Amino acid sequence: MSLKEDAAGTRAQTAQTIVPDAKTVINKPVVLIAGAGIGGLTTALLCERAGIEYFVFERASKVKPLGSAMSLSQNILPALEQLGLLEELQNMSLPVKSLDIYKENMTLIGSIDGKPYDDLTGYRTYLFARPDFYELLLSKVPSTKIFMGKKISSIQQNADGVMIRCVDNTNYHGDILVGADGAYSAVRQNMYKQMEEQGLLPKEDMEEIPVVFLSMLGITKPLDLKKYSALEDTSRTYFSTVLAKDKPQCWNTATLKGNRIAWALNHQLTSTEAKEMFFRNSEWGPEANKATIDEIYNYPIKEGGIMGELIDMTDKDLISKVYLEEKLFLTWNYGRTVLIGDGAVSAIEDAIVLVNCIYDIEDVTYENIQVALADYRAQRFSHAELQVNIGTTFAKVMLGQSLSERIMRKIAFNLPKWAQVRSHLKMAPYRPLVSFLPPPPNRSTIKMMPQKPSKRYAKEQAARAKEEAAAKEDAAKVDADFSVAVAVSV
Ligand SMILES: Cc1cc2nc3c(=O)[nH]c(=O)nc-3n(C[C@H](O)[C@H](O)[C@H](O)COP(=O)(O)OP(=O)(O)OC[C@H]3O[C@@H](n4cnc5c(N)ncnc54)[C@H](O)[C@@H]3O)c2cc1C
Ligand SMILES: *[C@@H]1O[C@H](CO)[C@@H](O)[C@H](O)[C@H]1NC(C)=O
Ligand SMILES: *[C@@H]1O[C@H](CO)[C@@H](O)[C@H](O)[C@H]1NC(C)=O
Ligand SMILES: *[C@@H]1O[C@H](CO)[C@@H](O)[C@H](O)[C@H]1NC(C)=O
Repeated sequence: MSLKEDAAGTRAQTAQTIVPDAKTVINKPVVLIAGAGIGGLTTALLCERAGIEYFVFERASKVKPLGSAMSLSQNILPALEQLGLLEELQNMSLPVKSLDIYKENMTLIGSIDGKPYDDLTGYRTYLFARPDFYELLLSKVPSTKIFMGKKISSIQQNADGVMIRCVDNTNYHGDILVGADGAYSAVRQNMYKQMEEQGLLPKEDMEEIPVVFLSMLGITKPLDLKKYSALEDTSRTYFSTVLAKDKPQCWNTATLKGNRIAWALNHQLTSTEAKEMFFRNSEWGPEANKATIDEIYNYPIKEGGIMGELIDMTDKDLISKVYLEEKLFLTWNYGRTVLIGDGAVSAIEDAIVLVNCIYDIEDVTYENIQVALADYRAQRFSHAELQVNIGTTFAKVMLGQSLSERIMRKIAFNLPKWAQVRSHLKMAPYRPLVSFLPPPPNRSTIKMMPQKPSKRYAKEQAARAKEEAAAKEDAAKVDADFSVAVAVSV
């Protein structure tokens, strides 16, 4: 039996296991997606648009609208525009005009102006509530494609296919498995175990993920405009960060659409604190939240009053504590399995490039799948690395308390315009596009980084153009025949 027949057999099995009438598309793989987070849902949406069969498996039995503010800019917006989501995103967002950083006594330390970046790229940066964006993605993926309450415990893969096993003892088969299941991904752990047994896992990837930050965050219910006058200005968001005086903490507030304020406390952990974190449960109960809430209750905020007043206006169930890890794994794919995500922006960028690569698999063989997954990593790795490095520097600049870090902060917030533009020019030209959809309008004033075009899409477009031309010719002929007929009959 050829590999292809094997793969087709696997697909038939997929169809049986999941939905009886799932259509088998011979020249497109069946993609299993682990995790219905932002990365998993973006992958699902892209597969939907690409006409690729997919299924999403999410451990939670119900979506909980957690999170604080999130922003998206030039690097993602052109792709969202291709997907037809830009207008809806704009409608739920406020544009970012500047990021302002203050001391505890509300003296301005510095401000990062967003306009030069907007001018270069032709897109504004939008700030919105993470749960709103999540809902938007969720609303675009048919609910029949998402299986809730499916915690993946193990995976198996070989030349014939990939299988996931869930805690409820169900199994599902497919051609490709996408691990979009977060920082402590079960898919990654399983894949790494398989590689380790084969002696294929680099040493760096065996080490634990250092936890660098602990954040507590939430979004208030609609607030009184008289108390928080910044909410009256709906032409922009007011995004303020306050740096603590003598501890590695900062807190942010941002005004949101709907008279709400998103808030977050970020605490940089010492290496001892970080080690202790490994031994704790990653799910924090309300008691753990209470200690932190008490600690930050009286922190002053730029929009007036104290942090505690915002916390009191936030549904306690929807306050979350998040660990922010800092690690770039070297290994992203093995066999039929591939990892995406972590870091909201990188999860979306990963999803775009990954589905581009999957789209170009015209013949679903084990070999072609491996080539496509390796291609995804090759296209993404250096960008992910740059993002992680910038993130680390940014965190140091924002939170560092050593003398050198304070000096760095002073420099960073008082950069001359040319230096700011230079740093923008590093980030602005990268924006992965969906290679199988028409490109978005060119809004930028600079040259964007080139991207690998889709061979399949080019072929399909050419075939479509040919068909249209033939149809036009036929129509013209019918037209001519008709005129002749009319002329003759008259
Ligand atoms: C609760 C929460 C709040 C956040 N709030 C903010 C915020 O306010 N602002 C911001 O910028 N970023 C926030 N982030 C971070 C940001 O959203 C993530 O970094 C980004 O979403 C990464 O996306 P992801 O899809 O890779 O992973 P995640 O968002 O972590 O999603 C992973 C998904 O996989 C599921 N999953 C995990 N294990 C399994 C398994 N074994 N089987 C099946 N499913 C599994 C999880 O339940 C989850 O739904 C938050 C993250 C979380 C988890
Ligand atoms: C966005 O908001 C405008 C104004 O309220 C509305 O006319 C438009 O239909 C909305 N667009 C979408 C896609 O929801
Ligand atoms: C705020 O604190 C700084 C020192 O950290 C001081 O120089 C400044 O005068 C203070 N401003 C106000 C308004 O108190
Ligand atoms: C978009 O326009 C800019 C400025 O006119 C130009 O430099 C760039 O090459 C254009 N990009 C594409 C893809 O056409």
